[in-house]
Amino acid sequence: MPLPDPALVVLVGASGSGKSTWASRHYRAAEIVSSDQLRGVVGSGEHDLDASTDAFALLEQVVAARLGRRLTTVVDTLGTDAPRRRRWLAAARGAGLPGVAVVLDTPAGVCRSRNAARDRPVPARALERQLASVAATTDLLAGEGWDAVLVLTPDDLPTYLPTAGPR
Ligand code: CTP
Ligand code: MG
Repeated sequence: MPLPDPALVVLVGASGSGKSTWASRHYRAAEIVSSDQLRGVVGSGEHDLDASTDAFALLEQVVAARLGRRLTTVVDTLGTDAPRRRRWLAAARGAGLPGVAVVLDTPAGVCRSRNAARDRPVPARALERQLASVAATTDLLAGEGWDAVLVLTPDDLPTYLPTAGPR
């Protein structure tokens, strides 16, 4: 699945769907702009939700600056905010870059069990809201004018979790 490069790549997926893992396997660290990482830069850590406003302001600045230089930019957020997606795609178009949406279409049960296994799980109800808004977003993407919408299912993704052995 060759993606255009340089390009804007917007990830869409619930917590635990594998966005950051996929990004780090396909792109250099400097090409990935992550809201979690920026929370760690301007807040007490990646999970410091109080730092979200500052982190997203910074994210917008980094995305605009990179796209303005026609540099590949992978936006690692939930990807469910339609106005933000529209703004990023417009910025890419303004710079003459293609825009691609990449949906991590990981089954809800897998996201839930990965989330439960994490040190700092997202509260269960928040994860359910994320899963619902990712599903709604997936339906919207086709009408948003992306150059490509890539929907990655478990068949497209290696699994890094240890599998349960036979009993
Ligand atoms: N993981 C996995 N197999 C994959 C992708 C991810 O086993 N194909 C595991 C990772 O090792 C990690 C967890 O699932 O422990 C969550 O993956 P991550 O890429 O961090 O998910 P994100 O979508 O980035 O989650 P968040 O929104 O919370 O950052
Ligand atoms: Mg992540």
